[in-house]
Amino acid sequence: MAISPTRPSNLPKLQRVLVVGGGGREHALAWALQRCPEIEAVWISPGNGGTNSPGAGISAIAIAETDSAALIAHCQAEAIDLVVIGPEAPLAAGVADDLRESGLAVFGPSATGAQLEASKAWSKQLMRDANIPTAGHWSVSNEADALKVLNTVDRPLVVKADGLAAGKGVTVADTVEQAAAAIQDAFGGRFGSAGSQLVLEERLDGPEVSVFALCDGERMVVLPPAQDHKRLEDGDRGPNTGGMGAYAPAPLLSEEGLDTVRRTVLEPTLQALKERGIDYRGVIYAGLMLTATGPQVIEFNCRFGDPECQTLMPLLGPELARVLQACAIGRLDLAPALTIKPQCSACVVAAASGYPESPRKGDPITIDLPVSQTRQLFHAGTRREESGVLVSSGGRVLAVIAQADDFDAAFSAAYSDLERVSFEGITYRRDIGHQVRSS
Ligand code: AMP
Ligand code: GLY
Repeated sequence: MAISPTRPSNLPKLQRVLVVGGGGREHALAWALQRCPEIEAVWISPGNGGTNSPGAGISAIAIAETDSAALIAHCQAEAIDLVVIGPEAPLAAGVADDLRESGLAVFGPSATGAQLEASKAWSKQLMRDANIPTAGHWSVSNEADALKVLNTVDRPLVVKADGLAAGKGVTVADTVEQAAAAIQDAFGGRFGSAGSQLVLEERLDGPEVSVFALCDGERMVVLPPAQDHKRLEDGDRGPNTGGMGAYAPAPLLSEEGLDTVRRTVLEPTLQALKERGIDYRGVIYAGLMLTATGPQVIEFNCRFGDPECQTLMPLLGPELARVLQACAIGRLDLAPALTIKPQCSACVVAAASGYPESPRKGDPITIDLPVSQTRQLFHAGTRREESGVLVSSGGRVLAVIAQADDFDAAFSAAYSDLERVSFEGITYRRDIGHQVRSS
């Protein structure tokens, strides 16, 4: 009998998987896992309006992403072999710890490890201790101290809420006055308890790129770099968002550059986590700025980026499930090599009007896309009503993704697919990938 290269006999059985979360990232993860030939069933909890597709091997189950007890009960009832936790909130709340304690194999760090994202002060201290290239910073816990630092430095520092603030906790000030106003806002309660401590940071300059390392506590597999587009409007204008589109591999970071990031950022970070007694099994997401003096860390996250994940998943081979499982059990050395398609992947997000401040919701969505091996549509803020009608239910509604031999063709396919999606107020950037497109 031929042995499948994706079925190493030395890893445990892997047939039934649960993805925790309900965004576009989790839809993409469930889709990618279901492509592994050994996997019989993928559940997603709670999922979204596009994820209940038993015909495609994915079933949604209505369990909140932080409800550890219900997740454990589901895993036991369904004999789940691997749980992949998508978002930061359940990770920071200790859901991975709870599930692991009940004996499950979990891809996703412990609550202590998730501080890499959940506390910017903790994360900056780790970077400082491990000598990881990043902007100079001051951690402050009251307004008077913060203003004193600002006035002494007398430069427009970047002001960051310490805790999770749904991507809205950062102010990149152009003037000292703007920085002072952001400090006063944060201590005035704008971010709730997430802003009761702040990190003030030197402002860096350069293009940004996201790099993801899949870690088993000791070892890592580094994915191709991806470029996000954080601003709402064309030309990188307007407010910051969760991300309006992405592409990969981002040529900004050459193979050599990626190797530098591995050596100077990712490996020392995993080592520093280990020295703190943290067995980090999940994604280290390094948000980097490519400055004149080399790559510097802007932020760490403890999960895949959204929409970078949607962009990257179609480039990864079916070994992905085995790689995540091997990370979850601390044995990446047993995983098959992860194949990466030598293609360009383009992703454009369709948001609701009013996003990010107050997105319009409840509009019916029509989608008329042909099935294709190289084109995907992942849902995010969508909901299926009892009548069967699909409606918008969040800021970033869905994303279209396409792969081709070059970025021009990939973006042209993604944008033409977007024309076959409609809902009232659909909003998207026309210039995603402008860095790599010739037209
Ligand atoms: P963060 O949530 O930490 O990723 O910050 C959001 C955005 O603010 C980043 O994607 C950058 O565009 C910007 N930013 C954060 N830190 C800095 C910094 N030190 N210098 C310049 N821009 C920054
Ligand atoms: N796309 C940026 C993030 O996921 O944080």
